[in-house]
Amino acid sequence: MSWVSDKNEAIRFCFSPDPDPAYRWDPKRKLFSLAETCSRPSAVLVQPVQQVFLTMHSFCHSFLQGKYVVCFDPLDGSSNIDCLASIGTIFAIYRKHDEGEPTARDALQPGRKLVAAGYALYGSATMLVLSTGNGVDCFMLDPAIGEFILVDRNVKIKKRGKIYSVNEGYAKYFEPAMTEYLQNMKFPKDGSAPYGSRYVGSMVADVHRTLVYGGIFMYPANSKSPKGKLRLLYECNPMAFIMEQAGGKATNGHQPILDIQPTNLHERAPIILGSPDDVDDYLALVSKHTV
Ligand code: F6P
Repeated sequence: MSWVSDKNEAIRFCFSPDPDPAYRWDPKRKLFSLAETCSRPSAVLVQPVQQVFLTMHSFCHSFLQGKYVVCFDPLDGSSNIDCLASIGTIFAIYRKHDEGEPTARDALQPGRKLVAAGYALYGSATMLVLSTGNGVDCFMLDPAIGEFILVDRNVKIKKRGKIYSVNEGYAKYFEPAMTEYLQNMKFPKDGSAPYGSRYVGSMVADVHRTLVYGGIFMYPANSKSPKGKLRLLYECNPMAFIMEQAGGKATNGHQPILDIQPTNLHERAPIILGSPDDVDDYLALVSKHTV
């Protein structure tokens, strides 16, 4: 599939639902097929398996090295695999700083610098959601022809939703702003109907529902995990990019996710994303509790 970035560069996405069997998941190399399919246009891959940083030297001669950096989570929500709940693949693509040898610095860029990002959701259908900085487009896999078909162009999130999504099992450890926010969701002070609660525990599924139905998804900081759980480079940034491109918001409670300067390839960040009015309600409580 070819697409054009906001810088008018043609980008070819090789997102294959049926990769060459030689390049399927290989436990010895600990790599997923996306690594191979992204190898030609990219220079650096960052992914969570074994917490490794891979330069494409392991795969390609330098003349094949490209100008992009790919940070991705090949199977996000993997604790859901055995029970057959939806899982997904998340990816973020940056331009390499210069033509020299790829380094970790090439991947340590704020999300604002993303060239493209998105995810594939393996649910009741397989959908690829993609942004190259010109809005968000959704492609459904048609297994009959083995192609992703554009089904929703320039998707926009609702200004306000009716669903909140968080692992409330950690409520004991939440900060006061989050505790008050959740209380307001369940017992609205203005007498309006309470929000519904949905949590799959698979970020791609929870974020995709938020994009399609509106509402808010949260993996906040808590006293046991002050930086939350989700990884900035290959979970938070790509999802924040999609949200902003769809008219939504994504924050760590103090600044937009996309403005965070990463210092570590596998660093975590608290994340609250979704419909702009819902995220603003949460941020208002953060301000109240910060004074
Ligand atoms: O980071 C992996 C992941 O499975 C995400 O997809 C998901 O949002 C989160 O972890 C669920 O974590 P928890 O089980 O703590 O709610």
